[in-house]
Amino acid sequence: MSTPGTTSGTTVVDLFDPQLASDPFRGYSRLREQAPMTRGSFPGLSSPIWIVMRYEDVRTVLSDRRFVNNPANVPGADVQNIREDLIEARGIPREYAPYILDSVLDADGDDHLRLRRLVSRAFTARRVAELRPRVEAITEDLLDRLPGHAEDGVVDLIEHFAYPLPITVICELVGIPEEDRPRWREWGRGLFSLEPGAASKPLRAIVDYIHDLVGRRRAEPTGDLLTGLIRAHDEDGDRLSDTELVTMVLTLVLAGHETTAHLIGNGTAALLTHPDQLAALRDDPGLLPRAVHELMRWCGPVQGTRIRYASEDVPIGDLTVRRGEPVMAVLVSANYDPRRFDDPERLDVTRESDGHKEVHVGFGHGLHYCLGAALARQEGEVAFGALLRRHPRLALAVAPEDLSRQFLPFSWRLARLPVRLG
Ligand code: HEM
Repeated sequence: MSTPGTTSGTTVVDLFDPQLASDPFRGYSRLREQAPMTRGSFPGLSSPIWIVMRYEDVRTVLSDRRFVNNPANVPGADVQNIREDLIEARGIPREYAPYILDSVLDADGDDHLRLRRLVSRAFTARRVAELRPRVEAITEDLLDRLPGHAEDGVVDLIEHFAYPLPITVICELVGIPEEDRPRWREWGRGLFSLEPGAASKPLRAIVDYIHDLVGRRRAEPTGDLLTGLIRAHDEDGDRLSDTELVTMVLTLVLAGHETTAHLIGNGTAALLTHPDQLAALRDDPGLLPRAVHELMRWCGPVQGTRIRYASEDVPIGDLTVRRGEPVMAVLVSANYDPRRFDDPERLDVTRESDGHKEVHVGFGHGLHYCLGAALARQEGEVAFGALLRRHPRLALAVAPEDLSRQFLPFSWRLARLPVRLG
């Protein structure tokens, strides 16, 4: 890792350092043990932000209401507006900025509640349980088709399993027609690209597409989530504006598939490289719920949260986050904090003792805790369970060190997962 710089006597870490990105678990552990909080920088930011790394501090930042997600909710001026910096650096046209800056994740207080309530009923444990047979059917169908994708006996599980499963599930739920789904993959890739200006074309395409779909669905309502949102909008315009409606669809579809795909990809790779854990799970599929919690902790795909802003001075340990200063909670570091987890680097699918309690913070914490966590966990359970049951000799087709990672900020994901089905 490159030597960190300093600003006003505080260490500054380059959050885009390739070494930190390639081994974030160990990289952040080293930083976390040096200091509970430090400053981090990355391209496009006009000045560094605080990064919080210890488990208890991460939970505090994510649950203490003195931290807000929208810089407009910090009283007074002088907020270091990261959002403006990033819009500028990524070349996103002004008129499209609200579609990625004003989602449920960027809202605080009543606004946040209003937006979250519009969709939360679709993601309760009961509703998610009702979806299980459909998730199982989609999974079995993808697995039926896997051998057909094999070249020299090798299949890329990201391409043909981990990715298509969650996009099919979330698109069916929201109401994105089947023939349009492949386009979302391209759009998603472009939107998260780090190339300056690369995000603007896909963002325009997604926004135009959703506006068009809203028109079509309004003319022919169905029972999907989109129809419900259109109804909420049409019956009471104060509850949901046009832009908010489009932004919600965009958020649900993007948040609902990229992340889950990489839980399935990272988790499968983790199991295949830990034969004792794989064997334990094969012997006792009842361990699946615990295993999914542990895989989320050990190799969860989301490394850091959206940036929070201190709405007043807040002490964290010996340091103080000043009013208006931005803070990012580093989930991957909290999940490896030895103050909370014994022997954190060890993968142990029996770790969570009651099998249901979620201790890790891979889905965040507090008011913005992942809306789709129950759905993502269920997809993980179904995917790992069916894959292991149907392919008793499943094995990596490359050496573990040759699994190539895709570099995206604050995301931990495999570019490909070549396996032999056995
Ligand atoms: C929020 C991770 C799957 C929808 C979050 C947050 C995290 C996260 C860390 C909190 C971000 C923050 O506080 O800044 C993940 C991971 C997933 C996953 C690791 C898969 C393994 C899903 C799915 C959906 C979804 C399937 C589908 C609906 C959302 C939404 C929010 C959110 C809408 C914002 C909630 C709010 O602001 O109140 N997710 N997520 N996520 N997630 Fe997920």
